[in-house]
Amino acid sequence: MTSSIKGKVAIVTGGAGMIGYATAVALAQCGAHVMLVDIHEQRLRERHTSLESLGGRVASYVADVSRSAEVEGYVAKTLEVFGRIDLFFNNAGTEGKIGPTHEYLESEFDKIIAVNLKGIFLGLRHVIPVMLKQGGGAIVNTGSIASERGLAGACAYNASKHGVIGLTRTAASEVGNQGIRINAVMPGVIDTPLLEEMLKMLFNGQVAEGKKVVGKVATQDRLGTADEVAQVVTFLLSDSASFVNGAAWEVDGGALSTIRH
Ligand SMILES: NC(=O)c1ccc[n+]([C@@H]2O[C@H](COP(=O)([O-])OP(=O)(O)OC[C@H]3O[C@@H](n4cnc5c(N)ncnc54)[C@H](O)[C@@H]3O)[C@@H](O)[C@H]2O)c1
Repeated sequence: MTSSIKGKVAIVTGGAGMIGYATAVALAQCGAHVMLVDIHEQRLRERHTSLESLGGRVASYVADVSRSAEVEGYVAKTLEVFGRIDLFFNNAGTEGKIGPTHEYLESEFDKIIAVNLKGIFLGLRHVIPVMLKQGGGAIVNTGSIASERGLAGACAYNASKHGVIGLTRTAASEVGNQGIRINAVMPGVIDTPLLEEMLKMLFNGQVAEGKKVVGKVATQDRLGTADEVAQVVTFLLSDSASFVNGAAWEVDGGALSTIRH
């Protein structure tokens, strides 16, 4: 798996976050050159520095993935710095407020869809043409177990993550015969700041208690780690997954496949 990634150029959005950065580390350890993209400038700078300490070539770019011009910006910067784009982890996402669908604020709905769904579309819209020109590439979009199930109180997040799977399957069917594979990863309940923000809202600030409860959806009775997601993303981006296309891979400790009782 690692050898096919050596020397490749990878973009990771949400690269200052837990799953994004863990994936950037996994790719760098396989010998990839990495462009980190995130909206959070300070954290991005810190991640840039720590990734560089692993020894590979690193670049970073501050962008809001919901804005077309900024997506064009990170694509152009990657080409300027590295000359090509082989691998793309289209991952940035946000949790949004919690509330029933019939009371959900329209402005909040628009905001979550803009980042989690339009952001994924814009990434595909601007990266695929580069890969087509080069004659190939591999992309992983970040969905969620919320891509497959309803989660009370999270209509915008759920709708956006369902949409990510639709985009993945559609784009994969369009360019699979031109050397580009596009898959999705569906993390379960993973111990990251995004989860903590959600748990704060769902469990009235009782994050530790919330973690215990939601950890039970996995057969292992625990939360997953960002690194456990990163390993699967790295596999999907590698040539080891050369006949995997349009798939949505669960990394959820069996949550979607089982009924716990
Ligand atoms: N943690 C979980 O349990 C879980 C479960 C399923 C799916 N996911 C998905 O995994 C992905 C990564 O999340 P994470 O858990 O690592 O959380 P995280 O909060 O650590 O990382 C998310 C990153 O995305 C960045 N971001 C947010 N909005 C952005 C925007 N508009 N433009 C650019 N960057 C932006 C944030 O600054 C942050 O660094 C997200 O798409 C999330 O929905 C997470």
